[in-house]
This record gives sequence, C-alpha cells and structure tokens, in this order.
Amino acid sequence: MKNTLIFNGSPRKNGNTAFLIDELTKRLKGSSKIINAYSCNISPCVDCRFCRTHGSCAVNDGMQTVYQDIVSAENIVIASPIYFSELTGPLLSVASRLQLFYSLKRFQGSDILSSKRRNGFVILAGGGDGASERAVATSKCLLSQMGAAFFDCAISHNTDQLSAENDLSVLEKIKTIAEIINK
Ligand SMILES: Cc1cc2nc3c(=O)[nH]c(=O)nc-3n(C[C@H](O)[C@H](O)[C@H](O)COP(=O)(O)O)c2cc1C
Repeated sequence: MKNTLIFNGSPRKNGNTAFLIDELTKRLKGSSKIINAYSCNISPCVDCRFCRTHGSCAVNDGMQTVYQDIVSAENIVIASPIYFSELTGPLLSVASRLQLFYSLKRFQGSDILSSKRRNGFVILAGGGDGASERAVATSKCLLSQMGAAFFDCAISHNTDQLSAENDLSVLEKIKTIAEIINK
C-alpha cells in the first residue's frame, strides 16, 4: 500500500484547504499522514550547520519523525492557503527544516531520498487576489527537496466567492489526483 504524506499550511481546521485534504484522503487506498504546520510544534531551521558535519538535524522535535515519513512516502502533497501569493509562513517555517536533505547531499555525499520514486502534488486555496504561480513554484521547490517529482496541482482560487466545497473543477482535480495516487 502507498504512503501519502500531506503538509497542511492552513490554520483553519474546517477551512478550504482542510476540506480539500479531506476530499483527497477519503479516496486514498493506502495510508496517509497529515502534518499541520500551525500545530505540529516543529521549530524553524536556525542554520546552526550541525547537519553539514553530522548528517542529522540537531533539533530534537517532531521533525525527526517527519524526516522518516518523507523517506518512506511514495506521495507527498503540499496543501496550503495562498497568503500574499505564497505558501503560509508556518508551512515555510516547517519546510525550512528540509535543509537537512540539502546538507546530506552537499556535504556528506549522501542522498537518502534517491532510494525510491516519489510523486508530488500541490493543493492550494486562494481568496482570488493576485496570482498563484509563486506558491506553485515554491511548492515545486519543496517537493524537489523531498525527492518528489511534481505531478499535478489542484487550485481553488476564488474562495472569497466560491468555497472549495462548491468549486466543482477543483473537486474533479482532487479526484484525478486520488486516482493517480491509487494507481
Ligand atoms: C494573511 C492572508 C493573506 C492572504 N493572501 C492572499 C493572496 O495573496 N491571494 C489570495 O488569493 N488569497 C489570499 N488570502 C485569502 C486566503 O488564501 C483564502 O481565504 C483561503 O481560501 C484560505 O484558506 P483556508 O480556508 O484553507 O485557510 C489571504 C488570507 C490571509 C489571511
């Protein structure tokens, strides 16, 4: 069975992003785990550079388990509201800890993510202001840091007027993503 790891960048427990994540996970046949950026108590990277020489992260918090989750995941989903055309701050804060994988490769010559192929997906909710391209580009960059190849994205970008729940095109896209993951 396939593991899907989902990063949720929304603070709203019953918001648009949470709804879309739920629409996805209820269709998945394998296991899924959600990392909630606003409540996971994962500290940001402080660039202490321990990972450059030790090949592990010095900060002993919930991210240690997330590192293992990333290595064992077949699918990784970045899901977030769009804030100022970007992913939310707390999600980027958690993501800063992905620097470990960069350091492992660059300074230790170890690519622990190369052992398997991972598919990457992006789910975004935006009120309808501005563009989503920057948030998509950042998501692709983070997926790449986790050894996941970008596959598809589902964007509900008019939630001020049409909630994700009523956005039929994004719901179709979520179904397509679930089918791809289940294949
Ligand atoms: C601080 C802040 C910044 C936002 N910036 C944008 C933006 O740049 N573009 C946009 O379309 N919507 C923006 N929004 C609206 C949210 O993306 C939108 O309400 C989204 O549906 C919230 O998702 P959620 O219900 O999953 O939390 C912003 C909202 C907040 C609170």
